[in-house]
Amino acid sequence: MLNEIAPAAVPVAVESMTEAIRVAVAQLETDLARVRSLIADLRPVTLDELGVEAAIEDLAERARSHGLAVSLGVDLAYEQGGAPGRHTSELETTIYRIVQEALTNTQKHSGARTASVNVEQDQAAVRIAVRDDGSGFDTTATNGGLGLLGMHERVERLDGTLHIQSAPGQGTTVRARLSARRETRTQQRSAAGPGAAASGCQ
Ligand SMILES: Nc1ncnc2c1ncn2[C@@H]1O[C@H](COP(=O)(O)OP(=O)(O)OP(=O)(O)O)[C@@H](O)[C@H]1O
Ligand SMILES: [Mg+2]
Repeated sequence: MLNEIAPAAVPVAVESMTEAIRVAVAQLETDLARVRSLIADLRPVTLDELGVEAAIEDLAERARSHGLAVSLGVDLAYEQGGAPGRHTSELETTIYRIVQEALTNTQKHSGARTASVNVEQDQAAVRIAVRDDGSGFDTTATNGGLGLLGMHERVERLDGTLHIQSAPGQGTTVRARLSARRETRTQQRSAAGPGAAASGCQ
C-alpha cells in the first residue's frame, strides 16, 4: 500500500496529519475548559442533602484517604439551630468550593503531611482558613492555573475578601471572609441533613 504512494506525497501527508492532530488537541483543550467550568458551576449534591458542615467533613475524609492528616474545626451555628436560617445557596457553595480547591491544591502541589480546615461564623460573617505545612509557593508568580483565580472570582462576587499567605518552604494558608447572607423564609430549601432538622427546615 505504502509503495503506491508517490515519495513526494509523504511529507505532505505527514504535514496534514500533524495539522489535523494540532486542531484536534486544540478542540480537546477548549472542550476540557468548558467541562471544567460547567463542573465548577454545579452545586455538589452533598451540600443540599447534608449541609455545609457534613459536606466539608466529606472533603476532609477524602483527603485523609489519600494520606493527608486533616484536622477540622467547622462551627456553623445554624446547623446546630443557633441562627435564624440557612445561608444562601451561593454562600454555601462558595464556602464549599474554597475549602475544596484549597485542599485539592494542598494534595496536588504541597507535599504536606498535615492540613487544617476552620470555618467559623458570627452574626456578620463566615471566616474560612485552610492551612498546610507543605512546600509553599511564590504567590506573585503566575502559572496558568484556574483554581486560585476561581477562588478570587467567587469571593469577589460576594464582596468578600481572600488572602493567600505562602512562601517557599513555609506552607500555605488560604483565608476568606464572606459576609453572612441568610435565606428569607420563602427561599428556605428542604434539606434532609442533621443541620436542617436541628434548625427546623423541612
Ligand atoms: N497549597 C499549595 N502548596 C503549594 N503550592 C501551591 C498551593 N496552592 C497553590 N499552589 C501553587 O499555585 C499554583 C496555582 O494554583 P491553582 O490552583 O490556581 O492552579 P493549579 O492547581 O495548578 O491548576 P487547577 O487548579 O486549574 O487545576 C499551583 O500550580 C501551585 O504551583
Ligand atoms: Mg488548583
